[in-house]
Amino acid sequence: MMSDFCPIKRIDHLEFYVGNAKQAALFYAKCFGFTNTAYRGLETSYRDIASYVMQQGNINFVLSTGLSPDHSISQSVLKHGDGIAIIALEVPDAISAYKQTTDRGAIGIIAPTEQEDAYGKFRYSAIRGYGDTLIKFIDRSDYAGVFAPGFEAQNRAHLNSKGVGLNAIDHIVGNVELGAMERWVQFFADTMGFNLLVHFDDKTIATEYSALMSKVMQDGAGKIKLPINEPASGKRKSQIEEYLEYNYGPGVQHVALATDNIIETVTRMKATGVDFLVTPPSYYENLEERVGKIDEPIDKLAELGILVDRDQDGYLLQIFTQPVQDRPTLFFEVIERHGARGFGEGNFKALFEAIEREQARRGNLVSV
Ligand code: FE2
Repeated sequence: MMSDFCPIKRIDHLEFYVGNAKQAALFYAKCFGFTNTAYRGLETSYRDIASYVMQQGNINFVLSTGLSPDHSISQSVLKHGDGIAIIALEVPDAISAYKQTTDRGAIGIIAPTEQEDAYGKFRYSAIRGYGDTLIKFIDRSDYAGVFAPGFEAQNRAHLNSKGVGLNAIDHIVGNVELGAMERWVQFFADTMGFNLLVHFDDKTIATEYSALMSKVMQDGAGKIKLPINEPASGKRKSQIEEYLEYNYGPGVQHVALATDNIIETVTRMKATGVDFLVTPPSYYENLEERVGKIDEPIDKLAELGILVDRDQDGYLLQIFTQPVQDRPTLFFEVIERHGARGFGEGNFKALFEAIEREQARRGNLVSV
């Protein structure tokens, strides 16, 4: 066993660059059950950016918008649209994480930086991930303030939610260009000490029309799972190619959010207007013969469109949203695990056929 040269405590947060963080905050509060706990912007003497920290369970999203056209966030939104720009990991030492990863070939983007305020010292650094995505290392061990220097605590009624039961980030999936998956697998292995957890080839993940390949990388402690997809050749344009085209490059495709009660969570999200992919009724015929006995009522799962899969360790329930912005790029998965440690591979075909129906509606399921 290799020593863990880049130990990671947890996923600290995901930072989204968006065109209008004020409105995005309301969306994640009303539709996804997040509460705005901290804010930084003009009112807190922060001149360039407005950022909203949205929290639910152990999940932290930061929604940021640039306040001028030449700000890098505005430039990013112009190119990619709204999406996840930063995967922030809490580490015991942001200086060491930067040195260890850049010594092994990662490209440094933010050299180790220390910010000090009345609440202590906040240290961070960042390296380049796939596309324009940054992997940020955050060390909070000497910091007791609200989120980060410059942020003030918030308790605004309209951005306060009781939650919909989402409690953790289960995995974060990236899409990269054709032929680039292996390079990114190697990047996470070499520079961060991640291991290959599982590999899906284009025979596992193929429909009549399109295919993709995927490898799941996991950190040394097994807490962080980062699947990486690349398109494979098929008769029609694959969903990965559609993403790469509209995102103008690689980036985060979906984030899986864990719940302990997916029926309750999805019922509440649907009630607020979150659009999920539609699962055909035929999926639920003979479902128990395919996946064995499960605790949840099948008719309820069918009503909501929740998918079921089983592996040697147990079963899981999952469902996927439609893209959460006009570009067919970032979407979310809601997942409830009952022992299963896989990613719903038994559902890949049904899932990708559902995605292709949406691609066809967008005029993007075209011959290649
Ligand atoms: Fe997933």
